[in-house]
Amino acid sequence: MSLLSENYTLYNGVKIPKIGFGTWQISNAAVYDAVSFALKTGYRHIDTARAYGNEENVGRAVRDSKLKREEVFVTSKLPAEIKGFKEARASFEKTMRNLGFSYLDLFLIHAPWPWNDKGRDCTEGNIASWKVMEELYREGKVRAIGVSNFSVTDINAIIENCEIVPMVNQIAIYIGHLQDGLTEYCRQRNILVEAYSPLATGGILKIEAIREVAKQYGASPAQVCIRYLLQKDLLPLPKSTHPNRIAENAEVGFTIRETDMKSLDSIHQDLSHF
Ligand code: A2P
Repeated sequence: MSLLSENYTLYNGVKIPKIGFGTWQISNAAVYDAVSFALKTGYRHIDTARAYGNEENVGRAVRDSKLKREEVFVTSKLPAEIKGFKEARASFEKTMRNLGFSYLDLFLIHAPWPWNDKGRDCTEGNIASWKVMEELYREGKVRAIGVSNFSVTDINAIIENCEIVPMVNQIAIYIGHLQDGLTEYCRQRNILVEAYSPLATGGILKIEAIREVAKQYGASPAQVCIRYLLQKDLLPLPKSTHPNRIAENAEVGFTIRETDMKSLDSIHQDLSHF
């Protein structure tokens, strides 16, 4: 059974499909076919970012599909190294030109720091960017706003200095790497946690304990990884360029029993290569 028509509801009432199609590391050339196939399969939630360099063909695939714009939930992101009022606004406009849309469903600050300077304190820049996100939201250009890769400290700075609490935090979560403290903090503030790299970019699919659980349910290891996150009320964003895998990753209507969830919880695999 596919879960593609089920939604979470953000705290502002906006519905967001429970499984999103991730497009990180899919080139602009390959993304058109991948997104077109995902939409044909029934995915209604596509996650991109200006930094992925594929917004143009994500937008084209959505526009070329027979679906109405409002039937597809699309997320994009403000690049991590772009901070500040003018810069954030200009980048949003570039994203919208790339996508060819009149509005966006969800707009995220991609990271609290530039990727080549992880951990740098950019609080001031993040606050300035967030004020732009708030303006875009109030103007109706985006239906929801959020952050990505933000820590508790980073989110607190936004909450203390701005008016709108982020609706989403998109972070790397997969079996063995749960970020429990951060997800609990988000839950308490009604911030939906989206899990990027739910398969650890493929790294966890060979773990024997996951394969064992998968066998019991007649499922694939990837399906177990995705289903596990859904049972924790997280929103997985699996990505694949292969049609059979794109379809497989949505067939996650089975239920993992509590004892198996616990054994998956106890996996602490070193995926530091990722
Ligand atoms: P491919 O794109 O060649 O199908 P993540 O979503 O954690 O970023 O993981 C994506 C990686 O996992 C990609 O390398 C993708 O390969 C692979 N992948 C995605 N779905 C499956 C699947 N159902 N079975 C095996 N590998 C998968």
